[in-house]
Amino acid sequence: MKKHLYINGQWKEAKEYTPLYSPFSGELIAEIGQADEADVDEAIQAAKDAGKAFSKYPASQRAAILEKVVAIMEARKEELAQILATEAAKPIKTGRGEVARTIQTYKFAAEEAKRIHGETVPLDAAPGGEGRLAFTVRKPIGVVGAITPFNFPFNLVAHKLGPAFAAGNTVVLKPASQTPLSSLVLAEIFAEAGLPAGALNILPGKGSVVGEKLVKDDRVAKITFTGSPEVGIAMRNKAGLKRVTLELGSNAGLIIDENVEISQALIDRCVMGAFSFSGQVCISLQRVYVHESKYEEFLEKFKAATEKLVLGNPMDEATDMSSVISPKDHARMGEWVADAVANGANIVTGGKAVSDRLFAPTILTNVASTVKCSCQEIFGPIVVVTKISSVEEGIAQVNDSRYGLQAGIYTNDITKAMKAADELEAGGVMINDVPTFRVDHMPYGGVKDSGVGKEGIKYAVEEMTELKLIAIKL
Ligand code: SIN
Repeated sequence: MKKHLYINGQWKEAKEYTPLYSPFSGELIAEIGQADEADVDEAIQAAKDAGKAFSKYPASQRAAILEKVVAIMEARKEELAQILATEAAKPIKTGRGEVARTIQTYKFAAEEAKRIHGETVPLDAAPGGEGRLAFTVRKPIGVVGAITPFNFPFNLVAHKLGPAFAAGNTVVLKPASQTPLSSLVLAEIFAEAGLPAGALNILPGKGSVVGEKLVKDDRVAKITFTGSPEVGIAMRNKAGLKRVTLELGSNAGLIIDENVEISQALIDRCVMGAFSFSGQVCISLQRVYVHESKYEEFLEKFKAATEKLVLGNPMDEATDMSSVISPKDHARMGEWVADAVANGANIVTGGKAVSDRLFAPTILTNVASTVKCSCQEIFGPIVVVTKISSVEEGIAQVNDSRYGLQAGIYTNDITKAMKAADELEAGGVMINDVPTFRVDHMPYGGVKDSGVGKEGIKYAVEEMTELKLIAIKL
């Protein structure tokens, strides 16, 4: 089935279509229209023109549109979860979880639309500022270029569209090449919810065409991107004075202290953190640093729980883990494990392909910090466990990374917890949970090569609005 481009409220035939295959079965799912530069130009102009009226919509009307999106998604939630299973090989039960989160994200956006405001500024605090009343307002920034990844095709799109529309901006969206269907269905949903034509334009296509034009075009006021550091950094270098939010990768680390009980609840969180959606999550648990007194017990229980995961067809209710996103990434998992083993690593479990599409959930030990499986982002079902002799050592090891998105520590000692909270170089620190914890209104964004700027609706709205000062001389 051919899927066209969505520009200015209309489906437009593309000049070129590329096949979209299931990551699990390799079957053809659809033919996806690829936007060229002229299409991007048209979409940006449509967004710019639509913004003239949409930026003036009252907050209540913007909120009402987002509330309607929530209601429509609620009514279609099973169909949406099946889209995730089909195009991303996201296990259906994980997909249902993502759709539920997406609905929450749009709910937060609807609420946030009603509380975008400035503050009064006491100008008389400076000599010469007397006799004036001053306040700030937050104005929509304009056209937002949103470039989104394959791993949460609904919810990470919602983290861009939700705040953009809450604030009165318009959007040109470039979804990930592997997951365009979950974005294209939004065209119907937002149109039915009452979003005006041109406010949302959806352009599947190549990063080198669509992404490049969005980043360089002066009519686009803001780029919001989730993806790899290499692409994100290149974008920032080309974006000129545009605002840029980058949510990039990580190799998230967790410390487990000596005073902690290795309970089933802790093990279940680690299994979820490491292997949910086959580890293709920016805050996936990649490195676990366990105190030497708990190391053997942790490893034994973690291995046992990992080996219970059910691998298979994403449509099966029982499936916990399915294929990684592409044959290339499937092959990369094997190559990275081989590289780790060649550098002295032990395979505790997994370490191999179980079919030409599925890779076993893998635990490695004795992995040097300079080996790819430790120092680079795996984005796959591989986790590295390392013995430490103190929390201080754990903090140093977690920080020995180019990344810093989220980190975690399990400890019963408040002093050590607060030391870790203070010293871990990350955008967020989870105490007594894995770094994979996220709910959708919290600030989310990294330090170092993990990115710049924050998501979480309120924080994204700040980045998608222009703070304007108004001073009245009395
Ligand atoms: C991400 O992969 O950056 C998002 C993780 C999440 O929302 O849980």
